[in-house]
Amino acid sequence: MLTTLAVKGYRSLRDLVVPLGPLTVVTGANGTGKSSLYRAFALLAAGASGRLIGSLARAGGLSSVLWAGPETVSGAMRRGEVEVQGTASRRAPVSLAMGFVGDDLGYLIDVGLPAPDVSTMFLRDPQVKREVVFAAPVLRPASTLVQRTARGVRVRQGRGWEDVGWRLAPHACLLDELADPVHFPEVASVRAQVLRWRFYDSFRVDAGAPARQPQVGTRTEVLSSDGADLASAVQTILESAWAEPFAEAVGGAFEGARVSVTESLGRFQLEMRQAGMLRALEASEWSDGTLRFVLLAAALLSPQPPGLLVLNEPESSLHPDALAQLARLIRQATGRTQVVVVTHSRVLVAALDGADVVAHELVKDLGETRIAGQGLIGGAAWDWGRR
Ligand SMILES: Nc1ncnc2c1ncn2[C@@H]1O[C@H](COP(=O)(O)OP(=O)(O)OP(=O)(O)O)[C@@H](O)[C@H]1O
Ligand SMILES: [Mg+2]
Repeated sequence: MLTTLAVKGYRSLRDLVVPLGPLTVVTGANGTGKSSLYRAFALLAAGASGRLIGSLARAGGLSSVLWAGPETVSGAMRRGEVEVQGTASRRAPVSLAMGFVGDDLGYLIDVGLPAPDVSTMFLRDPQVKREVVFAAPVLRPASTLVQRTARGVRVRQGRGWEDVGWRLAPHACLLDELADPVHFPEVASVRAQVLRWRFYDSFRVDAGAPARQPQVGTRTEVLSSDGADLASAVQTILESAWAEPFAEAVGGAFEGARVSVTESLGRFQLEMRQAGMLRALEASEWSDGTLRFVLLAAALLSPQPPGLLVLNEPESSLHPDALAQLARLIRQATGRTQVVVVTHSRVLVAALDGADVVAHELVKDLGETRIAGQGLIGGAAWDWGRR
């Protein structure tokens, strides 16, 4: 289980340490940084499959996602005694850093910009400056197990260090490149963990949405992030022990409606039977909210759930009845997998409340995202170390 997620320098997340539980609910007003937290989390995961730098480029480049406030915020700025302003020159290098701690291991990645160089135009290409795999709970020199810096990669061997002997390309991630479980068991373990995270953000439900189209049917234990394999994922659930909870959830949310899958020439198509209808309605005819609910139900009732499921604003276009069913599904999934829900629906937050829930409310403080009630010191132990 993940116990802490930390982000530094990403949009309004100047330095945020987020304690996580079996079910974590993150809420907050518009613009407090909920989606930024979700995106930073997804970016961290992208590194394990070699997509970090590409994902950053698609988000507008490193310079655009970096914290746009001053490097340090003084007490006088906070009290409003002086204007918020930056220093003439930066003291610390440009840095976007993210990391997490699980039960046994922690991981941190620190991304920056290349040194000025007249021979290349790629001066905005982010570079990985530092990556560390450490023993939980906190990064310390003594808990560091594998360290990648500009000088190379070194691995702890008893009381000393062994240099791995090769340098990684500046855009490559340790997690992706050194995941050989024989030589780098800790790196492989962190990578395997990260690859089992799933992120679901505002599924497309428009008329051309992939989830509305018939698809080649293949056994699908985990719904893809775009929901394109929904019919396969639903049929996999209907042939598993989760068929009944799935039927109950859909029936509960939509007045006894029943979802099934038809097959023609290997292509799977979803249909829904509802009271009062003479024929079943195909997925192309479902309402946006119906499709979104079925997508979420398929994600949450996966027969082989991912290690961690992160949902961003799952409440959009759902009626309170469907929200109550969604909350039940999320509670059922918790226990089988760790769940993080980012939401601004008070109804959903209230329905998810319980003893095992870690709830965070994000607030803005001088443009910076903070967790309400956490104070300036932060709520969980975390150390960024240094380059
Ligand atoms: N580079 C940046 N530096 C600092 N703050 C930024 C930067 N880019 C965006 N922001 C701010 O980050 C805030 C957080 O946006 P985000 O999309 O995460 O909010 P949200 O909590 O998901 O809001 P909503 O409920 O409206 O979806 C915005 O208010 C925006 O002004
Ligand atoms: Mg948002």
